[in-house]
Amino acid sequence: MQIGRVLISQEEIESRVRELGSEISADYAGRNPILISLLKGGFVFLADLIRHITIPHEVDFITVHSYRDGCTRSERIEILNDLKRSVSERDVIIIDGIVDTGHTLSFLEHMLSDRRVRSLRVCALLDKPACRQIKVPVDYVGFRVPDVFVVGYGLDFMELYRNLSYIAELIPTHAVDRASAEVSLAMPAIKPKNASVERMPALEAGRLAETDRKTARPVAKRDP
Ligand code: IMP
Ligand code: MG
Repeated sequence: MQIGRVLISQEEIESRVRELGSEISADYAGRNPILISLLKGGFVFLADLIRHITIPHEVDFITVHSYRDGCTRSERIEILNDLKRSVSERDVIIIDGIVDTGHTLSFLEHMLSDRRVRSLRVCALLDKPACRQIKVPVDYVGFRVPDVFVVGYGLDFMELYRNLSYIAELIPTHAVDRASAEVSLAMPAIKPKNASVERMPALEAGRLAETDRKTARPVAKRDP
């Protein structure tokens, strides 16, 4: 694997996170919401986001394991480390790094509604709507990204790359090698056997992200 095109720069993330912090502060004025960060992918986002939230709030963490091996998706989900505080009758905002199939969020939404939260919203830095398998509302979206595997800003591939301060596409090494061969030999487009990353050539992924970034706005919100 190797880091490909930078889809979202550090500056773009910083500015969008600031906007999200202001929106949440305005929407939850007069309340004291609990922000629940999904570990591990959401911790960098949470750490930056709360510094732009100007109203009183609490944070908690939950570790949910969705069985996936690197880029491979699965639907089996398990709580590895639960919340430390009761969320009953509280305004809760789930802070997630990326929403992909929606299985993790759907699982959490059911769990939190069983625990009788007062209100629930979801804030995700990244949304991959093309990959959704279950309909889950995402109330605050940082950026919409195409169906490519991304790393950085807390998101990992096999626990690596969380430290990048930008979001980049991860490219399988064999795809990179083949892609360079194609350029030099003017061969036809590669037909990758593996999932999303290879289906979307780096350049196209970059362009799509560019377009989506401009239109990325929080979608229909539920009342806090
Ligand atoms: P879900 O498919 O919406 O349930 O997403 C589950 C989890 O998969 C996310 O919280 C991430 O941890 C991980 N994930 C999904 N897509 C990506 C990606 O492109 N890069 C890194 N992690 C991802
Ligand atoms: Mg991961």
